[in-house]
Amino acid sequence: MTTIARGRFTADPDPDQHAGLVLFHIGMRINRLRAVRTWVPVLAAMPKMLRELSAHPELGLLSFEVFRSGRTFLVVQYWRDFAALNAWARSGDAPHLPAWRAFNRAARRSTAAGVFHETFRVGARDCETVYVDMPVMGMARATRHVPIARRGESAAHRIDPTTPDMPAVPPCPCWHLGAAVTRPRERFLQRYGPRALVTGASSGIGREIAVQLAAAGFDLVLVARRETLLRELAADLTGRHRIGIRVLPLDLALDQSVQELTAATAGTDIGLYVAAAGFGTSGPFLHANLDQEREMLRLNCEAVLTTSLLFGRRMAERGRGGIVLMSSVVGFQGMPNAAHYAATKAYVQTLAEALHVELRPRGVDVLAAAPGPTDSGFAERADMRMGRALSPRAVAHGTLAALGRRPTALPGLLSRVLKDSLAPLPRRTRVRIMGSVMAGMTGHQHTDTATQETAT
Ligand SMILES: NC(=O)c1ccc[n+]([C@@H]2O[C@H](COP(=O)([O-])OP(=O)(O)OC[C@H]3O[C@@H](n4cnc5c(N)ncnc54)[C@H](OP(=O)(O)O)[C@@H]3O)[C@@H](O)[C@H]2O)c1
Repeated sequence: MTTIARGRFTADPDPDQHAGLVLFHIGMRINRLRAVRTWVPVLAAMPKMLRELSAHPELGLLSFEVFRSGRTFLVVQYWRDFAALNAWARSGDAPHLPAWRAFNRAARRSTAAGVFHETFRVGARDCETVYVDMPVMGMARATRHVPIARRGESAAHRIDPTTPDMPAVPPCPCWHLGAAVTRPRERFLQRYGPRALVTGASSGIGREIAVQLAAAGFDLVLVARRETLLRELAADLTGRHRIGIRVLPLDLALDQSVQELTAATAGTDIGLYVAAAGFGTSGPFLHANLDQEREMLRLNCEAVLTTSLLFGRRMAERGRGGIVLMSSVVGFQGMPNAAHYAATKAYVQTLAEALHVELRPRGVDVLAAAPGPTDSGFAERADMRMGRALSPRAVAHGTLAALGRRPTALPGLLSRVLKDSLAPLPRRTRVRIMGSVMAGMTGHQHTDTATQETAT
């Protein structure tokens, strides 16, 4: 969950450490949407570049934020100094460079995509900032985040301390309203507590959501098939937090288990329902195993339908609650080579979007969480090989932070890049592009089949 720093804050760069501070804008614009082969490589180079820099703070990047406006993508970066930025841009062994160079070669040949950068030497004191009721961000995140009183009330004084410090313009009255409101984490617990039920809690995203809810003080009901994993998680979480946990080992692809879930939770005050249990399949549709596809349909769709109806009714009755349904970026269009899995996620996405509107007047917030590739148990079961992947922790955090604010969460930079870069394209082009992404994730299946055939 994003933490809001209540009140008025400013950035306080250290005169020594941040003497050469640099603000660096780097980005691209898609000039011709259809020239996918030209702009996809550079867009894909961005997350790689940012991951590398975040993993190596000694390279000099202090912090960054990503923005999109129409067809233009912008990364705002704060660097220790120009020497560090220049050294990194010229280093021959950075992992992002092959993709970046390939793009530059393609960009020179065509005007389908443009790139730009802007560099500003800002220095420690030639800047002034104000953040009111904002998360820690921008220059304050890159340097130090301090209450405004530490650097002066007025902008003129903050940028030049020799100027008299005139009182600031009185804040808008709405800023005072917050004084009576509790902190975001407590508010979240008040709104969706006291107890959350999480399916798919034995692994990956569901497990991580359970971990983060336990830290926020929720009592939990944990559901999945693997009882040992659920009990280990419950023991760990009750050891760390003063919460109650109940474990329900159930196979939600079975009708009778969904009935058991209904009976086992009758009379239990559940304010938040997270449907993270699910799995995927991949490969050519004509090679599908029908039993497995039906099992997926029952778990990903039918169980989600039944449980959303169950908890939706109970929450509407109590006038308060939250429901999170786990969709996917593959649910926004067809996906060749994972056709049926994508179809199950389109079902979940559409259901959640509609329930978001329908249940809101009853006090129930519904969210579709649509992550991109995530490093969990999912890939192994789906027989996919993912290159870049999000951490379950980032997905859980982005999901919980979006509940009650938006109909759909696109947790993590990779999910947003995947969704936003494809959004302006015609649907059939998106299907083709996603098909080639999935072909990359399932290419090993052909090799494995060929090897088996040679062996026999
Ligand atoms: N990973 C990704 O790239 C990705 C991307 C977008 C969306 N998603 C979606 O996110 C959700 C969570 O997936 P994940 O990435 O966290 O994968 P994961 O690590 O494999 O976790 C899946 C969870 O679902 C549970 N589950 C599977 N079959 C079940 C059944 N029949 N009954 C009850 N529980 C069952 C598993 O527990 P047991 O095996 O113990 O039953 C496990 O806890 C899924 O709906 C998936 O479609 C994943």
